[in-house]
Amino acid sequence: MSSKVIVTIFGASGDLAKRKLYPSLFRLYKSGNLSKHFAVIGTARRPWSKEYFESVVVEAIADLADSPEQAQEFASHFYYQSHDVQDTEHYIELRKLQNRLNEQYQAEHNKLFFLSMAPQFFGTIAKHLKSENIVDGKGFERLIVEKPFGTDLATASQLNEELLAAFDEEQIFRIDHYLGKEMIQSIFAIRFANLLFENIWNRDYIDNVQITFAEKLGVEERGGYYDQSGALRDMVQNHTLQLLSLLAMDKPKSFSKEDIRAEKVKVFERLVQPDKEDLKRFFIRGQYKSGTVKGKKYISYRSEPNVNPDSMTETFVSGAFFVNSDRFRDVPFFFRTGKRLTEKGTLVNIVFKQMESIFGEELAPNVLTIHIQPTEGFSLSMNGKEVGERFSLAPLSLDYRTDATASGASPDPYEKLIFDVLNNDSTNFSHWDEVRSSWELIDQIEELWRSNEVPLHEYPVGSMGPDASFELLREFGADWQWSPNK
Ligand code: BG6
Repeated sequence: MSSKVIVTIFGASGDLAKRKLYPSLFRLYKSGNLSKHFAVIGTARRPWSKEYFESVVVEAIADLADSPEQAQEFASHFYYQSHDVQDTEHYIELRKLQNRLNEQYQAEHNKLFFLSMAPQFFGTIAKHLKSENIVDGKGFERLIVEKPFGTDLATASQLNEELLAAFDEEQIFRIDHYLGKEMIQSIFAIRFANLLFENIWNRDYIDNVQITFAEKLGVEERGGYYDQSGALRDMVQNHTLQLLSLLAMDKPKSFSKEDIRAEKVKVFERLVQPDKEDLKRFFIRGQYKSGTVKGKKYISYRSEPNVNPDSMTETFVSGAFFVNSDRFRDVPFFFRTGKRLTEKGTLVNIVFKQMESIFGEELAPNVLTIHIQPTEGFSLSMNGKEVGERFSLAPLSLDYRTDATASGASPDPYEKLIFDVLNNDSTNFSHWDEVRSSWELIDQIEELWRSNEVPLHEYPVGSMGPDASFELLREFGADWQWSPNK
């Protein structure tokens, strides 16, 4: 890995930079993955001095540093440039600063650009980086792009074209922070390092798969963005489908980025594009109404700041995806995600088929649960015998759980992902072919919803979404396995 690099962050005064990027860069520095040969250029419109920028960085990492001296030493690698992304002159200044820091830190012309600002500027930035010769073909040149990557297929394609004018696909790292989460990466291990599971990871043994991304919070301060986006674009086009691809892919030839990507892309390409009737049946949208949970009052989505009071934006979505592969044909991949649900929880339930019973009673299915957050781990539910003279079945569970994020054992996704970029490892990033296929499918659902041919269900704060989401599974003879409110 090369730890010699000049990192340029567009959007350096933003929330993401303070909450995620500076702490992640600091952890990489502390663990020796960034050496003395690195510097960070922060850019944003505000006229900050280097001193002020350093103080922002020090504050962002205050809890992580061993001493004020260590925090200050780290922050001394940070430089600030007030920057208007539309102004060519500013890129000329940026190039000078880049070149100066390259000399000063002996960074061997390696450059990493992080686009962490409003996506409408991504294309302009990429264009100027190329035209002003900041991207000059010397050293490595990599671009990290934050979500959202477009708002539909047309805008995503246009953005992609704009980025490709300055960078090759291999140099573009599209962030999906879920792919940096420990347990999502563990799916590779559980599937491809355990014959036990890999042998039954198919339609002969798996009845259905259930993916839940539940959030207890509402839209908080992001009403403006969220009202334009909605849960489908915010959580499904990216995180849900990426997770699905890891669950549904075939075994890659090797654990290389190329082989993994090839298998993931096949899943995206085989996603079934439902006809209109199935689109109506398989995808449910909801919006939270006001309510009281444990004595605390919550306002409705439509009353949230910066949300249109007549908004038809969904804060909940659930549905069933299908993958037309030999491995998973006709197996539903159910998913649900929403704001203001019962509790925060991201998990996957793999529900296995059951054998015929010789016990005169129906057998509960075995369920493998992958706990992604807030706890991390696995559990496997089984049928055992109840202790006693008589023979009767009783459920038991094999459980392996940690609260690794809380204990600090699991790195933050951004730390892992920046580490991957420094290693030129794009395994845990979204490839354009994946993004394109996911938008093709999401656009169809959006189009149907825009025509208002399906209801927008209200759901109570603190619930697990509208009844329609439960009915959807019942149509397939299934039930949501995770019921935190029961
Ligand atoms: C983001 C969405 O991508 O993921 C947010 O834009 C959502 O709306 C967030 O809250 C959830 O991420 P995490 O890591 O907190 O589960």
